[in-house]
Amino acid sequence: MADKAWSGVFDEATDPRVERFTESISVDKRLYAQDIAGSIAHAQMLAKVGLLTTDECRQIESALAEIRHAIESGTFRFHADLEDIHLHIEKALTDRLGDIGRKLHTARSRNDQVSTDLRLWVIEAIDQIDTRLADLQKAFVGRCDADRDVVLPAYTHLQRAQPVLAPHYWLAYCDKFNRDRGRLTDCRGRTNVLSLGAAAVAGTSLPIDREDVARRLNFAAVAGNSIDVSSDRDFVVEFAFCLTLVAEHLSTWAEEWILWSTTEFNFLRLPQAFCTGSSIMPQKVNPDVLELIRGKTARVVGNLTSLLVLLKGLPLAYNRDLQEDKERIFDSFDTVNACLELASPLVAGARLNVEAIREKLDRGHLDATTLMEFLIKRGTPQRTAHQIVGRLVRTALERCVRLSDLTEDELKAADASLDASIYDVLGVEKAVAAFISYGSTAPSQVADQLAIWKKKLSV
Ligand code: ARG
Repeated sequence: MADKAWSGVFDEATDPRVERFTESISVDKRLYAQDIAGSIAHAQMLAKVGLLTTDECRQIESALAEIRHAIESGTFRFHADLEDIHLHIEKALTDRLGDIGRKLHTARSRNDQVSTDLRLWVIEAIDQIDTRLADLQKAFVGRCDADRDVVLPAYTHLQRAQPVLAPHYWLAYCDKFNRDRGRLTDCRGRTNVLSLGAAAVAGTSLPIDREDVARRLNFAAVAGNSIDVSSDRDFVVEFAFCLTLVAEHLSTWAEEWILWSTTEFNFLRLPQAFCTGSSIMPQKVNPDVLELIRGKTARVVGNLTSLLVLLKGLPLAYNRDLQEDKERIFDSFDTVNACLELASPLVAGARLNVEAIREKLDRGHLDATTLMEFLIKRGTPQRTAHQIVGRLVRTALERCVRLSDLTEDELKAADASLDASIYDVLGVEKAVAAFISYGSTAPSQVADQLAIWKKKLSV
């Protein structure tokens, strides 16, 4: 009992079932490096303001370095009865230094300590996800030159809509992941605030220097309200949300490529190293990695929901409920990180089945909208042009032919103003070449966008 940091007021030992129920060490031992970094900065500040001697501070610093080494080399022993990472490290320090170790928790509470540790962890995690997202963007950009002239059908409602250049597709994903990166940067800014010094809830009567701690830990600012910062987990929810949108984007891409790799679409061949087979059907090469990337989105969404429900209605300030946040955010990070690790080589390694795509490209009348716009350019009102082309498509569907296969008589039957000049704009290649608007699939536009991405990603 005497071993517990908080046992002074207790005259009964903790029930072992309570120890098992309340422990978080099994989850938060992952924060050991952040906890030690925070403690070193705190000790240095305590020495600066005279609450520790320089020698005491030096002893604490080297004992903490030893403890870090013990944890990293696997010789450190974790026990459930010591609750969490903070108490483990403090106990190990006290075992080494006695009363000097017992001074470290001056002007500090586990409430501001856990918030600080988690903020440091989230900042590192954001930087890691950002690097992976940049790698994925580079993988998409890296495909663009080789796939430059490949024309694909773009879909709306999963029905063939208009022709686009393959790089236009790849760069669409670059935009999505760039917004994710922007959101992560914003989240990083709001996370990058020092909570240490808020102590339990109201601050401290000891003469601490919070700016000094912020500088040592590279925090951009010091939190101005001790009640708020010790209860704040907005940064955890925000990070979980950023990760959820990354997972949603990955899931859209995975679903698309799963479809594209079916016999029915046959647009894409996935690298075999990223597929698995069937134990009963010898012919199968299944897109399991993509399916799991799509499937794991579920748990990332679930983690976000758990965090939001966890915080709902919690009174200020610290409540033990908050301990539940770490398992959720660690899982979202690990999941998205693992998905991203596989996504980049998958994007780089897949091959478009150019021949198969081209063979079927004239199905679905991908040139219909361009023909309508050609008529608009000749002065036909849009609604009228739409009707005329609609009639042409109906005739083509009846005869199972392309728009370009219709005879001049059939053109005239749809509208008297139509003549042989119509053939000049028909066909998918010509339809692609006709695009001009900013951000469109026009070859010059796609080339401009690609140049911007190459510059932005330094590739
Ligand atoms: N393990 C706790 C958590 O993760 C640390 C803070 C506990 N504070 C307390 N006063 N019981 O939230």
